[in-house]
Amino acid sequence: MINKIPNYVKNVKGVSRGLNNFVMERRLINELRKRKNHKIKLLEIGCGRGILLLELRKKFSNLDLYGINLNRYHGIKEKKDFIRNAEENKIFLDNKEKSNLPKINFWDVGKKIPYKENFFDLIISNVSFVHVKNKAKALEETSRILKVGGVALISFDAHETKKNLGNKFYNLYKELDKKMKKDYMPRFLIKKEKEFVGTKEFFREVKKEGFDISVRNTDYKDKSQKVRGVQIILKKKREGKLDLRLRYNKSKSEKITKEARGKNPACYGAIDFYELN
Ligand SMILES: C[S@@+](CC[C@H](N)C(=O)[O-])C[C@H]1O[C@@H](n2cnc3c(N)ncnc32)[C@H](O)[C@@H]1O
Repeated sequence: MINKIPNYVKNVKGVSRGLNNFVMERRLINELRKRKNHKIKLLEIGCGRGILLLELRKKFSNLDLYGINLNRYHGIKEKKDFIRNAEENKIFLDNKEKSNLPKINFWDVGKKIPYKENFFDLIISNVSFVHVKNKAKALEETSRILKVGGVALISFDAHETKKNLGNKFYNLYKELDKKMKKDYMPRFLIKKEKEFVGTKEFFREVKKEGFDISVRNTDYKDKSQKVRGVQIILKKKREGKLDLRLRYNKSKSEKITKEARGKNPACYGAIDFYELN
């Protein structure tokens, strides 16, 4: 079952979202079914308290699970914290499952993901990419560590632009809405010389090079229409390095502050500004 409204809108304090609230749950289950007779290496980027990983541990014994988080958020410092989190969320692991817990590392995926090439069959991410500064670099790294034939399912939300969310790109969004008819992702502003390039159009070009990246809107919209769900699906179809040719411009990018967030709890994260070489 897929919940269309993520928990964080219903309950801002809630951080344990889990499998049912991963908007690409059905797609993930399909990918897992396709590989059911194999040992699968699966990574969650921005795993938070590890609830989704723990549910996967419980449901699928053929998974070798890994998680990355920016730092020791949500009280995870060592393995026993996972067991406590699991039990708090009514996931009771048996001894075999407890001896095979996810391997967690604390890294910034916008810089480097220190796993070797072609390591993972599946990579997932749930409402975490919004926070990453330099999402393009994180996507390149995601592609690098995926095996050929591997798939990354990345969910995040994006700002709608109809209302002023108080961020510095408001006027730009209005202009892009008109010009591109929403073929852009407000978390991902790409400029080529003097013009902005649509994200869907941009990834269509990338696909021609053998790296299949699609951007889709999800069913999710919050009531006030200020936010809509967006997902990125990356299928690695060939060997080689994904080079998006996007230069991250830190000074033009924006981290959404509490003030800008105002009364909209779902308005957070970072908006990246890139120049296309
Ligand atoms: C909103 S929480 C989501 C946690 C979990 N995926 C869930 O659905 O409950 C976002 C998580 O992303 C992590 N995060 C943010 N920026 C990151 C980065 N650059 N690299 C790795 N993790 C990051 C945060 O530490 C946080 O745990």
